[in-house]
Amino acid sequence: MSSRTSRRTNLALLALLIGAFGSGWVGFAVAGSPDSRIVSVLHGVLGLGILTLVPWKSVIVRRGLRRGRHHVLAIAFGVLVAVSLLAGIVHSTLGPLELAGVSALDVHVGAAIVAVPFAVVHVIRRPQRPRATDLSRRTALQAMAVAGGAALAYGAVEAVTVAARLPGADRRATGSYEVGSGVPSAMPITQWFTDSVPGIDEGTYELQVSRPDQPTRRLGYGALLAISDTTLTAVLDCTGGWWAEQSWQGIRLDTLLGPVDSGSIVVRSVTGYTRSFPAEDATELLLATHLGDAPLSPGHGAPLRLVAPGRRGFWWVKWVDQVSIEPQASWWHSPFPLQ
Ligand code: HEM
Ligand code: HEM
Repeated sequence: MSSRTSRRTNLALLALLIGAFGSGWVGFAVAGSPDSRIVSVLHGVLGLGILTLVPWKSVIVRRGLRRGRHHVLAIAFGVLVAVSLLAGIVHSTLGPLELAGVSALDVHVGAAIVAVPFAVVHVIRRPQRPRATDLSRRTALQAMAVAGGAALAYGAVEAVTVAARLPGADRRATGSYEVGSGVPSAMPITQWFTDSVPGIDEGTYELQVSRPDQPTRRLGYGALLAISDTTLTAVLDCTGGWWAEQSWQGIRLDTLLGPVDSGSIVVRSVTGYTRSFPAEDATELLLATHLGDAPLSPGHGAPLRLVAPGRRGFWWVKWVDQVSIEPQASWWHSPFPLQ
């Protein structure tokens, strides 16, 4: 294999890796409307594109391994990419498999994140500079062949999933599986990996409500129950790979805060976990006290948790003890929780 083919194979792998990693996070950000499926499909095509290059890359790997240098990091990188790919395909075809509380999707995303520093070292140590001649008709055709191969691979995996009636055929546009709709006790309890279920005494619990033009108010659990009068049916689609449709009862945020015209709405949990929403979301957000007909369980966010219809699970802040209007726009805050 010519060095030019090797270089182009490695550059194509780089593009696919960056594309797959980026589209994975975009997929975590989208809500799951039918047209958001395009993100999952693109993600799958980019990811499977890596597999279509295996015949070419394996020649490069064999040649590289024959050279005298330290290969440990490159091999570890290869293992991480393989584990991530396998777990991603398992999740999308065989369903939400779980081993000791760790799901295939956790392994998929976890291995991809751990692979990042290995990828950076791998590429920096083996620079493959694009050349002007890479912009040829031939390269364009090769790129189209890789894209076609990747799309075919995706189509084949989907066709087998549907034909064999694998669980993957029933997944939502986000790739999530339905668990416990209408049955709160069957709905999984998951939180952002930095968070855990706190112990809260409802007798001493208070919600702090503040806005710049008014003194801060504090409401106890009883006061919240007295104004908890709005019911809403919404789909909670967790980035952990499951979704459930439930009926929630609670207090609309605009009822609690009054009109919100500018700035952002910041919702904070007793654990410190925080999410910021644009002002106009005030009419759609609900602070729930009940799930189904019963008060929330600790795992599902008792005594008060946010219901954010149309947003992924990590926006649905649990154990809320503070709601405030802040002057800066919500896009100043990180799109994903950092703590
Ligand atoms: C799916 C992603 C990739 C995997 C799993 C992977 C893995 C490997 C492995 C195991 C080797 C042989 C061991 C070694 O040379 O130390 C290798 C060689 C090599 N890799 Fe990668 N690699 C990937 C992507 C890339 C990318 C994106 C680049 C650069 C843009 C790259 C550049 C190279 C080069 C130049 C060699 C040959 C080194 C030599 O012949 O001495 N690889 N790769
Ligand atoms: C370079 C890293 C990555 C690669 C190569 C990759 C590749 C893949 C592949 C091949 C699939 C299976 C697609 C299918 O057969 O339908 C998949 C599914 C999935 N990946 Fe990734 N992925 C990567 C990183 C990520 C990251 C960082 C995230 C999230 C932040 C993510 C989230 C997902 C989700 C949610 C699915 C399920 C989608 C569905 O079932 O339609 N991936 N990935």
